[in-house]
Amino acid sequence: MPVLLVTREQERLGGAANVALNVKTLGGQVTLLSMVGQDEPAHRLTDLLRAQGVNAVLGQDPRLQTIVKLRLIGRSQQLMRVDFEQEPDHEVLSQMLADFERELPRHDVVLFSDYGKGGLAHISRMIELARIVGKPVLVDPKGSDYSRYAGASVVTPNRAELRQVVGAWQDETDLHRKADALRVNLGLQALLLTRSEEGMSLFQADRVEHVKAQVREVADVTGAGDTVIATLALMLCCGLSMAQSMEISNRAGGLVVSKFGTSTVSYDELFV
Ligand SMILES: Nc1ncnc2c1ncn2[C@@H]1O[C@H](COP(=O)(O)OP(=O)(O)OP(=O)(O)O)[C@@H](O)[C@H]1O
Ligand SMILES: [Mg+2]
Repeated sequence: MPVLLVTREQERLGGAANVALNVKTLGGQVTLLSMVGQDEPAHRLTDLLRAQGVNAVLGQDPRLQTIVKLRLIGRSQQLMRVDFEQEPDHEVLSQMLADFERELPRHDVVLFSDYGKGGLAHISRMIELARIVGKPVLVDPKGSDYSRYAGASVVTPNRAELRQVVGAWQDETDLHRKADALRVNLGLQALLLTRSEEGMSLFQADRVEHVKAQVREVADVTGAGDTVIATLALMLCCGLSMAQSMEISNRAGGLVVSKFGTSTVSYDELFV
């Protein structure tokens, strides 16, 4: 069997924690709501978040393993990924809803990063609570049932994710029709389709806008989606329009894919 001799280890925030880190790196204030087990990775996660200055409210469930993705890399090539994860249960999820209600008044924007791990069981109620107080809600979606995102301000699928929900499109006209139908059906203010090297398309009630991807040397595409939605949230928070926010997020996405190994963009990289 193959044997890997470990010479170097690196720990990084992943999933929703990476989105939170992106907000922080851009100069925003953020609180991460998530859940963990009662194990060593939970401590490591807490330490990493603290070191980066990301506030976190982490529900603990002793029956849960903290989600870890262990990547085995040899000669710059990923050989295998080992995943530690389980579905969280009822109690910790109810606690999370209570945490959400408590944190909501202190925040201007709500961002859901749906990685399909079961942590967003109460997302519909959370969206409702945020909307009642008029706060923008952004969702990075997962899966084929978007009904639970109804009422959000903007949902940001990539091409494959949108295709999973509305089916393949023949051409741009067909895409426009399908995207609009979904947007209306879910009562969204906007649907933002991220299209990798094709940039982005923003579907709103009275218009569609496209931006071209910033042409760059692509080094590492992972995490572009996280950077994009974090930037979008922060720009909306600053009072920019959806279209202006898209423009800047697209630039952030282009910057992050041109970097190897880092999945965040700083304020200076984006604006100076
Ligand atoms: N190859 C690329 N060249 C230029 N820009 C890119 C490229 N890939 C991604 N981007 C930028 O990042 C945005 C998001 O990328 P993409 O649509 O691949 O999201 P995603 O699939 O959610 O990403 P992730 O890999 O993080 O899940 C794009 O809309 C674009 O602005
Ligand atoms: Mg994504």
